[in-house]
Amino acid sequence: MPNSSGFNIIAVDGGAATGKSSTSRAIAERLNLMHVDTGAHYRTLTYALLDAGADSETPEAIPALLASLALDTTIKGRSALLSINGHVPADADIRSPQVNANVSKFAAIESVREFLFNYQRSQAQVARDHAEFTGLIMEGRDIGSVIFPNADFRFFLFADEATRAARRAKDGQTDSIAERDKLDSQRKAAPLVCPEGAIRVDTGPLPLEGVVEHICGIITA
Ligand code: C5P
Repeated sequence: MPNSSGFNIIAVDGGAATGKSSTSRAIAERLNLMHVDTGAHYRTLTYALLDAGADSETPEAIPALLASLALDTTIKGRSALLSINGHVPADADIRSPQVNANVSKFAAIESVREFLFNYQRSQAQVARDHAEFTGLIMEGRDIGSVIFPNADFRFFLFADEATRAARRAKDGQTDSIAERDKLDSQRKAAPLVCPEGAIRVDTGPLPLEGVVEHICGIITA
């Protein structure tokens, strides 16, 4: 761990089903980091917005709805979970076909991203406040480019289409990953990009343990 403060921030970005979550979770376990899945933030917020009757086609109505939502953090094991108005929705609810179909549309709305920006940055302090963690690993689409551009390590994961589709099928999920990637890459606000200077990791040919080994090797070198 080269950071002399002893606290590292690690950013992991990539498209849907490139292995970000399983990789980040396993690295958090190995290196004792707090894990934050920002895809789950957008999913949780989408779930709450849909519940409040929001429509991504009328973004002008969203700020008033966001104003009624209070964000907080619940630590479960090594993961920091977003709660909204005191509630962490079940995984099945934030990974439903309805959320899968809407999340990238809401994530492209400026007011939604602004709403999560400070919250996501504040997770570094949450991790520091928990002495058991040696740092933070945050995964998403804009972590190394927008949320923590000065992170100690920035990784960009990618994989071929067939591998990604097989991973989603194995998860038993109905999800159009190509459609989401297109929306995520083409949006104006914080698009999915490989941040300049990030280390690219092809997760297609390697098993999970191989990817984890490779990344941990770089972090601890
Ligand atoms: O990572 P996951 O596939 O669960 O992310 C769900 C969606 O949340 C993405 O397709 C994207 O639209 C949005 N997202 C984002 N920025 C992030 C993380 C996720 O826009 N940092």
